[in-house]
Amino acid sequence: MTRIVVYTGKGGVGKTSVAAATALLAAERGYRTIVLSTDAAHSLGDSFDRRLGPEPTEIGPNLWGQESEVFHNIDKYWGTIQEYVSSLLRWRGLDDVLAEEMSVLPGMDELASLLWIAEHHDSGKYDLIVVDAAPTGETLRLLSLPEAGRWWLDRIYPIQRKIAAVTGPILGRVTGMPTPKSDVYDAGEQLFGRLEHMHDLLADPELTSVRIVLNLERMVIKEAQRSFTYFHLYGYPTDLVVCNRVLPPDAGAYFGAWREAQQRYRPLVEESFAPVPVRDAPFFDEEVVGDRMLRTLGRAVFGEDDPVAFYYRGRPYTVRREGERFVLELELPFTSREEVRLSRFADELVIAVGSWRRNLILPRILVDAETIGGGFHDDILRIEFAAAGAAGALQKGAS
Ligand SMILES: Nc1ncnc2c1ncn2[C@@H]1O[C@H](COP(=O)(O)OP(=O)(O)OP(=O)(O)O)[C@@H](O)[C@H]1O
Ligand SMILES: [Mg+2]
Repeated sequence: MTRIVVYTGKGGVGKTSVAAATALLAAERGYRTIVLSTDAAHSLGDSFDRRLGPEPTEIGPNLWGQESEVFHNIDKYWGTIQEYVSSLLRWRGLDDVLAEEMSVLPGMDELASLLWIAEHHDSGKYDLIVVDAAPTGETLRLLSLPEAGRWWLDRIYPIQRKIAAVTGPILGRVTGMPTPKSDVYDAGEQLFGRLEHMHDLLADPELTSVRIVLNLERMVIKEAQRSFTYFHLYGYPTDLVVCNRVLPPDAGAYFGAWREAQQRYRPLVEESFAPVPVRDAPFFDEEVVGDRMLRTLGRAVFGEDDPVAFYYRGRPYTVRREGERFVLELELPFTSREEVRLSRFADELVIAVGSWRRNLILPRILVDAETIGGGFHDDILRIEFAAAGAAGALQKGAS
């Protein structure tokens, strides 16, 4: 069995550092570990103070590192399709060089590098795959199958397979437009199969957990909340929030006001992600580069705990459709029946029961939906939204 841990978060919060630290601690505990960066910026190598390549590079005992390289991945996974896309672009009048560049479609590089996860999982060579994911929720949205399917069809198949099978050769003759040959379709089918497999792995709560790295700043927390919501919606289990660069009490007068601001935001982090646990790491007075500092960061987050453990299991809340309404259900850590106060502002929903508060970012589908009721059932709080007015249908399996 291969455990998969995916770190995400806004740009610059410390994802790469925490991913590298996690991998190092795990390797030192004896897990055969690979840490994989899907980021084109190549900073994983900087963290370890080593050069890493687009294929796994041995870093130390039980430890391998790999930095995604877009053209390498595309050769590996997209070659045939890309050839077709670029011949299509050439046909539309783009010159060769530009067509080659343009055929690397948005999101494609990230997706291609994520395909490595499935490959490493299936190889059986590793006990743990740590992923330093590029700083965007887009990556994970691409992984949701309905979305990925649409994305795929929109961009790669300009003509659907069936239509093309019938009219393709004729269309090609008449317009000179290149039509995809069957090996392109085969490569496409194969790739789609791989995507599905990767999605299954990432959504498997026995294997995978997503961990959010953040800093105590308003915009960073907000974006982290939004990602958290989408992980739920697409079924990716979240087990830990790492609050990085927390200024220590002895930060000094110069940092005093900053530290105060950080401390003001700390409860919001708790309210936003509970019951998923939050671990803090201090703002160090030096860069997190090299094994010594990575170990220090790792210890700050995990102490003596196993970094590979699941820190939370389950879904903090669920959303589903019941006929004419959407239902959001939330498990309460207590059974008090005090009045529930809801307040909504744009996509934010604040739930307060007595002094307990939860601050959620609503999925897009609920943003315009009116709240029409709610109540307790055992220790589950249920909030109902009118489905009319909510855009589109809730995706299958989204809960
Ligand atoms: N707790 C910390 N204390 C001090 N410096 C830190 C800490 N965590 C990370 N850093 C430093 O902050 C910088 C950014 O960290 P890192 O590269 O891990 O962030 P990132 O989220 O991966 O960024 P990006 O989105 O650009 O990939 C690095 O120079 C790193 O050494
Ligand atoms: Mg990074």
